[in-house]
Amino acid sequence: MIEAGQLILLISHKGKRYLRKLETGGEVHTHDGKLLMDEAAEVGFGQYIKTHLGRPYLILKPTLHDLIKGVKRQTQIMYPKEIGYLLMKLGIGPGSTVIESGTGSGGLTTALAWFVGDTGKVITYERREDFYKLAGKNLERVGLSHRVEQVNQNIEDGFLHSGADALFLDVRTPWEYLESIPSAVIPGAMLGFLLPTVNQVSELLRGLEDGPFAEAEVLEILIRRWKTVPDRMRPDDRMVAHTGFLVFARYMEPPKAAPKPEPVEEAAPVDEPEAVTDTAEPTEDSE
Ligand SMILES: C[S@@+](CC[C@H](N)C(=O)[O-])C[C@H]1O[C@@H](n2cnc3c(N)ncnc32)[C@H](O)[C@@H]1O
Repeated sequence: MIEAGQLILLISHKGKRYLRKLETGGEVHTHDGKLLMDEAAEVGFGQYIKTHLGRPYLILKPTLHDLIKGVKRQTQIMYPKEIGYLLMKLGIGPGSTVIESGTGSGGLTTALAWFVGDTGKVITYERREDFYKLAGKNLERVGLSHRVEQVNQNIEDGFLHSGADALFLDVRTPWEYLESIPSAVIPGAMLGFLLPTVNQVSELLRGLEDGPFAEAEVLEILIRRWKTVPDRMRPDDRMVAHTGFLVFARYMEPPKAAPKPEPVEEAAPVDEPEAVTDTAEPTEDSE
């Protein structure tokens, strides 16, 4: 039995996918005819129901990967391969507060919101109102909008928030916003950036070198899929060869002035005990 309000993924025999929130008495209109949500609720996950034209649909509980694939997009969204790695690097987990820009269609925002849990928070900045609204709808659709504060603002005006645990920028010229980062995050916070070209990476690295940042790292992640025919194992003919470079760094506060050491009183000389010399002969084993 699937509860009302839960997300369901319906997949046709041709692989067409529909991501929906289960509603009592609801219907899903597909290319193959109408599906009844009450029937889906009754049979449960992992089972099939038929449209009114008799076409079978598999009902699955969507994973985060499914939710990101289902994001309605007007911008390029980040790929799960980069998202997975950056979540670990940035240390995103239950209770984290993370700042992000730009929101775009909300692909990365969805993943961040999923991982921060109900005790954490995602603050996401987007300068374009149409993308800001689209991302809001996408987050609402997957039931994660309550974990996200959307800001329809250009980050050239700085960040309104402070004390975030981590910050991620997927914008074209992130080096222009580096000086706004220190007031937005905690000292030592992890920062991440996604950039498609090496020219942009060089520009960003120059900015990071000027500080106050440390531990810069640049990498890219490639996935090569393989055909799943057991007797003819070989890679797929095509692959996505390039998506973007990930750049990571830490915000480091300039060191505080070290406290002056207390003057140490000179100790009176004491009689040294006689030095003991180790006279043991080396054994055969120790040579
Ligand atoms: C490639 S999209 C981000 C995609 C997003 N990471 C995702 O996974 O869906 C880049 C977004 O950054 C926004 N943007 C670029 N510069 C910005 C700025 N200075 N302030 C706020 N948003 C900005 C753009 O409008 C665009 O929507």
